[in-house]
Amino acid sequence: KRVKYKEEIAEKGGFTHFMLKEIYDIPTALVNSVESLLEKYLTLASMIVFGAKKVFIIGNGTSLHAGLISSYYFSDIGLNVNVVSAAEFPYYGLESITTGSVIIAISQSGETSDVIRSVKLAKMRGAVIVGITNSVGSRLALESNVYLPITAGPEMAVPATKTFTSTITVLKVLSLYTAYQMGKVSKKEIEEFKSEIKTLSKSIAEKLPKLEKDAESVASLLDKESLYVSSSGINYPIALEGALKFKEASMTHAEGVQLGELLHGPIVLANKGYPIILIKPAEDYAEDLYNKVIRLVKDRGIKLITVSPGGDLDSVKTSRDLSPISNVIPLQLLAYKLGVKKELPIDTPPGLVKAVII
Ligand code: AGP
Repeated sequence: KRVKYKEEIAEKGGFTHFMLKEIYDIPTALVNSVESLLEKYLTLASMIVFGAKKVFIIGNGTSLHAGLISSYYFSDIGLNVNVVSAAEFPYYGLESITTGSVIIAISQSGETSDVIRSVKLAKMRGAVIVGITNSVGSRLALESNVYLPITAGPEMAVPATKTFTSTITVLKVLSLYTAYQMGKVSKKEIEEFKSEIKTLSKSIAEKLPKLEKDAESVASLLDKESLYVSSSGINYPIALEGALKFKEASMTHAEGVQLGELLHGPIVLANKGYPIILIKPAEDYAEDLYNKVIRLVKDRGIKLITVSPGGDLDSVKTSRDLSPISNVIPLQLLAYKLGVKKELPIDTPPGLVKAVII
């Protein structure tokens, strides 16, 4: 028994859970993901996106959240994309698909049935599929006209962590190549982004032990079974992703709420001691609202936990575009530490599987 236990720990690289190991893998995975993207596939994929009559981005769960973040990147370059859950796509989007439509389909496993089903339906109507997956031989890779690998390395824990941050990076590179096709950025700017990723990766690696400590002390103070995670702008999808991690890793009810929407109803549940995790928005114009919400939360005696460089849950200082990567890590760690505190089977939450194939 002892030998088996030791073997398990060794498999996890000395960590007690895959989830924690995979969070510590993030810096390496980020660099690998960017370096593994081949110029010819990026050029092909970006030409397809540039030439599209309309673009849909589909995925489920964490992959859907990565898609939502990328919609800000595409919007920045003047391209409006529709981000839809792969489970909803047959009812919203499919009817409008014709030749010239493009589907960017995201799936870590490449096997999620909702994604495969929607991809097949869209192909029958003439759409071109750009697949993004961490699994080279997967059904999604096979169904795609062109696919971009995530290259985050195998992810064992059901709660996705490193594949999320790497997917965001791949999508950002795709948006940059699309902007290049449009004549909006130069290859030099794309290279600069790649070095920005290297710098971020280094800073994350250095700061991870401190982030883990912060998460542990915040987790020790959390005793409620429900909480809100809120933000605005490009970090709003991180509120959704953080809430998903709390459910999976710590079996705590959590809801991701848009900062502005907090005041339109959700705040009513937040009484004294109710935890609200506020991710500081990266956009300047959201600052007023952020400060207003902080004042309101403090006045009501709500337990405020901030996520930002220097916040209660510290994060690495980086650009607006990369802030979702930097801000999700403290939330992944907090969800993990809460799961540890509750002695939960974090890597294999009850009733959940890594790839939903139904
Ligand atoms: C992520 O933590 C979840 N386990 C889940 O939401 C997952 O992202 C979803 O099932 C989609 O999986 P895929 O990326 O393999 O398609």
